[in-house]
Order: sequence, then structure tokens, then C-alpha cells
Amino acid sequence: MNKRTIFCRSICLVGLSGLIAVAVSGSFAEDNKPSKKLVVGFSQVGAESGWRTANTESIKSEAAKRGIDLRFSDAQQKEENQIKAIRSFIAEGVDVIAFSPVVETGFEPVLREAKKAGIPVVLSDRAVKVSDDSLYKCFLGSDFIEEGRRAANEVAKLTGGKANVAELVGTVGSAPAIDRKKGFEEVMAKYPDMKIIMSQSGDFTRAKGKEVMEAFLKAPNAKDINVLFAHNDDMALGAIQAMEEAGIKPGTDIKIVSIDGVRGAFEAMKEGKLNVTVECNPLLGPQLFDLIEAVAAGKEVPKRVVTQEGVYEQSQAAAELPKRQY
Ligand code: AHR
Repeated sequence: MNKRTIFCRSICLVGLSGLIAVAVSGSFAEDNKPSKKLVVGFSQVGAESGWRTANTESIKSEAAKRGIDLRFSDAQQKEENQIKAIRSFIAEGVDVIAFSPVVETGFEPVLREAKKAGIPVVLSDRAVKVSDDSLYKCFLGSDFIEEGRRAANEVAKLTGGKANVAELVGTVGSAPAIDRKKGFEEVMAKYPDMKIIMSQSGDFTRAKGKEVMEAFLKAPNAKDINVLFAHNDDMALGAIQAMEEAGIKPGTDIKIVSIDGVRGAFEAMKEGKLNVTVECNPLLGPQLFDLIEAVAAGKEVPKRVVTQEGVYEQSQAAAELPKRQY
């Protein structure tokens, strides 16, 4: 698939012996030999956040642009659905399997099955914990620990290092939830007056973010909260609603730092309701399919590809908003 292919809607090719039907997905290489469309099975986490929607769109549109036969499966945030989807991709004999694991653990047996079937696996966005890293070819995604560190540095800047933090954690057991917390706490350890006083999972969704924030605000020590650290923007946006309903001014009474950099976060920053968003880029489609095509062609690829990301403060929101792609 690395050589340029000429795509053709017809399934007929005139050969030496007359008309030969070519029962492939309809593409020809420049040397006029039929070339099969690359078949990729992709198992997505779900549609839990604005980030995820943008990620799915990036993957689907890039596959379409490259003429790849993408078998897309939505796991609805359930690991068992992902395992099932990967097993069907193996049964279908796809060329490459890619997936964004809901949680880090539990994938080793199915990855062994893929390896046994000779189907290479590429991890997108999130990592897995396995005892043998030859079970996947490469992992493309953000450095979630660094995102957590960046968020904590912003909290320190906003509060002069004096922060009672309420933390909205992502999906329990997921790589971004584990690593963002780790990075945040690593930096927090340098500030004796910065502590997490409440912490609960909001499962990366706006609805749960709101629900958990409502509970935080009813806690006996609710008045001590001066910062909300949300592992993603969607949960922060839900929490903003909960604060407003409770008569609290988000961004002022409680400073808010979250992660992703989705458009909704920029809108909230423009309105002064959110203070900082640490970027986590969902537009992985082009890089992902570069890697997938290389893997399918038997080329060596780096084991880890880290996406480049920034940090956006409230003062940058108005200028940045029109440029946001997601
Ligand atoms: O894995 C990336 C995380 O998953 C994003 O931060 C979050 O919004 C998404 O649901």
C-alpha cells in the first residue's frame, strides 16, 4: 500500500487472456497489478466526550481520504466490547488492528490471539499494560503524565501554590486517568500548601462531571475548595454548570484547570468561567494511518510516538477560539 495506488470503481481488468474479473476492493497499483485495499479494524473507546468525537472524525475521514477499508467499532466505554471487536477483526482477517483501550489492563490474551494470527496491532491515544511489548507494534498518543504536570504547574501559578483541590478523575483504570493524576501529584509534591481534598471519577463525561461536582459542593469541607482539576474539559464543563446552579462563580470563586483543549473549553475561558486548558490533541488520524500503512508494509516504526501539545490560559482564549479545529 505504500506505492501510490490508482483507485477504480470497476472490478474488471483486461488481461492477456481476455477479461479477468478481479474480486478485490477495486484498486490498482501503478504497475497495473491489482492491489488490495488495506483493511483496518479500529475499536474506539466510545463517544464519551467532545475530544472523542473529534478523534473518531479524524480517524474516519483520514481512512476515507486514503481509500482504506475501515472496520470501525464503538465499545461504548466497555472493555468487554473492545475484546469482542478485536476478536471479530481477527476472525475477519483484517490487515492491521488499531484501538484506543478503555482501560490499561486485561488485553493481553486477545493481543496474543492477534499476534498468533499474524495481525499487527497499533495503539492509538491510550496505552495498555502487558508483560510482553511485542504484542503491539507501536503506540501513538499524548504524554498524559506531562499533561498532569502541566495542569499542576498552572494551578500553582493561579493560586501562588496555595490550593485545596477538588479533582474530577477520568475513567477508573484508564491510562489518562492514571497518568494525569500521577503527573499532577508529582508537581504538587513540590508545593506544601497544595493538596487534593476531594477526588472522584466523573468517567470523562459532562453528566458525571456535573453530578460529582454537586456532591463535592455538598461535602462538609466544600467551602475549602479553591481549585477544580478536571481530567478532561467535558467534566469541567459539567462542573461549571453545577457551580453556577449552587451560586458559585466558576473561574473566580473556584479556579478551574482541565485537559483537552476542546472548543467548549475555549468558549468557557472566553466567558471567564474556566482558567486553563491543557491541550490533548485528538486529531490523530493522519499520523495513525502513516504508522498503520508502514506497519502493513512491514516497515520498522517507532515503538512510541508522542503528540505535540500546548497549554492555553484564559487570556489567549478569544484569539485562539476561531482557530480551534475541534
Ligand atoms: O484518552 C484521551 C481522553 O479520553 C480525553 O482527555 C478525554 O476527553 C477522552 O474521553
